[in-house]
Amino acid sequence: MTLSLRRRALFSAGYAQPPPGEPGGGHNFICELAVGGQINPKTGMVVNIKDVDAVLKQCALAALDGKLLDQDVPRFRAAPPTLENIARFLWAECAPALAAQSPLYRLTLWATPLWWVELARVSPSSASLQDPEGHPMLSVTRAYEFAASHRLHSPRLSDADNLELFGKCNWPNGHGHNYEVEVTLGGEPNAHTGQIVSLEALDTLVDEEVLQPFDHRFLNADVPEFAHLTPTSENLTRVIWDKLAARIENGALGDARLRKVVVRETARSFFEYTGE
Ligand code: NI
Repeated sequence: MTLSLRRRALFSAGYAQPPPGEPGGGHNFICELAVGGQINPKTGMVVNIKDVDAVLKQCALAALDGKLLDQDVPRFRAAPPTLENIARFLWAECAPALAAQSPLYRLTLWATPLWWVELARVSPSSASLQDPEGHPMLSVTRAYEFAASHRLHSPRLSDADNLELFGKCNWPNGHGHNYEVEVTLGGEPNAHTGQIVSLEALDTLVDEEVLQPFDHRFLNADVPEFAHLTPTSENLTRVIWDKLAARIENGALGDARLRKVVVRETARSFFEYTGE
């Protein structure tokens, strides 16, 4: 049995000269380490959380907290201190320090609640089988929101069956949601920009393909994709994936690849698609 645990640290850091595309002069970053392993029968723990904290303190807080990254941290004089490069720095520092106890399988670094990068091995169990120096997959995620109304009604079902299946979601004049959408892209950071994708280019693409056509619309009538498709959140997630994937495959975001789309319809309902 493999069990995982996650521990977070907060640090603040800024830029003497912000990297291109960096929207702020600095951030209150949140770094989360996820480690996996077997439960030690003597201690009842996978790893002592104090040991994970010590690694976070030595590797993250001491090196980065309160610093001007491009000026004070030698590594970032050569490579720009983008979120991607900071995450790789943290992985390189923390993974070897944790390997002896239980391997690091995921590192997540938030610049804001709407923008984060992740370095991840496939799963906690695979982490224990891999070389701790092996390269984890890098991705960047941006979160967006829009408001829209819809009516759940399938033309393949009778009116009575629609009402039975969808309940109040079938009422004829529709109802609304504040949707939240997370778009995750994977790839290698560009050698010059240090980013998987330009945030401005990603925001523009999502604005064109999702926010402009969907925000403050009645999905059933205003969005052509739903003319003959019931706008359930499953179908909405799939339509968003297809629209973004078509543009990204045509090179809209350089070498970046679409990895995941998450749609949150309510605080308790999440829908996720990875294209498989
Ligand atoms: Ni609804």
